[in-house]
Amino acid sequence: MPQYDKMTYRRCGKSGLALPGISLGLWHNFGGVDRFENGRDLVIRAFELGITHFDLANNYGPPPGSAEETFGRILKEDLHGYRDQLIISTKAGYEMWPGPYGDGGSRKYLLASLDQSLARLGLEYVDVFYHHRPDSETPIEESMMALDQAVRMGKALYVGLSNYSAEATKRAVEILQSLGTPYLLHQPQYSMFDRWIEDGLLDTLSETGMGCIVFSPLAQGLLSDKYLSGIPDSSRAANKHGFLQRDAVTSERMRQVENLNGIALNRGQTLAQMALAWVLRHPQVTSALVGASSVRQIEENVAALDTLNFSSDELGSIDQILQGN
Ligand SMILES: NC(=O)c1ccc[n+]([C@@H]2O[C@H](COP(=O)([O-])OP(=O)(O)OC[C@H]3O[C@@H](n4cnc5c(N)ncnc54)[C@H](OP(=O)(O)O)[C@@H]3O)[C@@H](O)[C@H]2O)c1
Repeated sequence: MPQYDKMTYRRCGKSGLALPGISLGLWHNFGGVDRFENGRDLVIRAFELGITHFDLANNYGPPPGSAEETFGRILKEDLHGYRDQLIISTKAGYEMWPGPYGDGGSRKYLLASLDQSLARLGLEYVDVFYHHRPDSETPIEESMMALDQAVRMGKALYVGLSNYSAEATKRAVEILQSLGTPYLLHQPQYSMFDRWIEDGLLDTLSETGMGCIVFSPLAQGLLSDKYLSGIPDSSRAANKHGFLQRDAVTSERMRQVENLNGIALNRGQTLAQMALAWVLRHPQVTSALVGASSVRQIEENVAALDTLNFSSDELGSIDQILQGN
């Protein structure tokens, strides 16, 4: 079913695995509160366009766990027979069930959560299992050994880290290397509006040979033209289950968005497409991990890969806008 020639695949760090330039995350729009048929259409169209990587976590929904159930149903009903053409990831690290064992980074939590995720997904293994966020209460050795154990048990092919600082990543990789664990990916937030990874993490990823898949590259939709004339009813900022707050849509932000939109149009792209090309300009960034509420958005986002180059003038103008000049 996938049209592989429509997609650009990029090598993930120094690993043997390639990921699509655009990957699809199921944080929003795939929960029990959402319309199943829409989620199914999104996944099928994404896969047709060569998006082979789908990203989940134990707590995606709402309710928590329901996005994995939705994806498990799509796998069973529509993508049966395609398992070897898919890279499926999940994570544990945020609060998932009551009591001291349903949150954090303990071996107890991570391995129990992975078993629950596999049951919801209807899978024997995931391709990537992440620790979703660092946990200062748990020795990092314990969390890394739990990831290693997941691989040894055949429940994950590779492991990943999400939201780890450059320093914590270095320490985690030392441990994973000593254990011989196939560490593959770091998943940090990165967009024009959140550039923290430029301050050390990207260098660490080059040194460690890890790939990088950046989440919220569209700043949850702010980096598009959709909020320029107010907050549409159908948008994440208007959705009561949405993580994007209405007060993130400030007039100052919209002035920046308006100016960025002008640069994008001059490049012959939409702002969303330029925002995706902008995160992919780093060689360390393997994939831009987007969300979507409609098939049209997925098609538009994949087409960003047609124009990835920036002139130094364009990059300079973008920096000036982001610095508020
Ligand atoms: N590791 C972590 O801690 C973590 C945290 C957050 C997310 N993630 C992962 O990253 C994935 C992506 O995060 P995200 O959903 O925040 O990413 P995003 O791509 O920044 O935002 C996606 C939202 O932007 C809007 N959108 C998408 N394409 C558009 C387009 N072409 N034009 C206009 N609007 C567009 C849609 O919202 P509307 O509803 O407004 O249409 C869509 O749901 C998640 O699904 C999850 O897998 C990981």
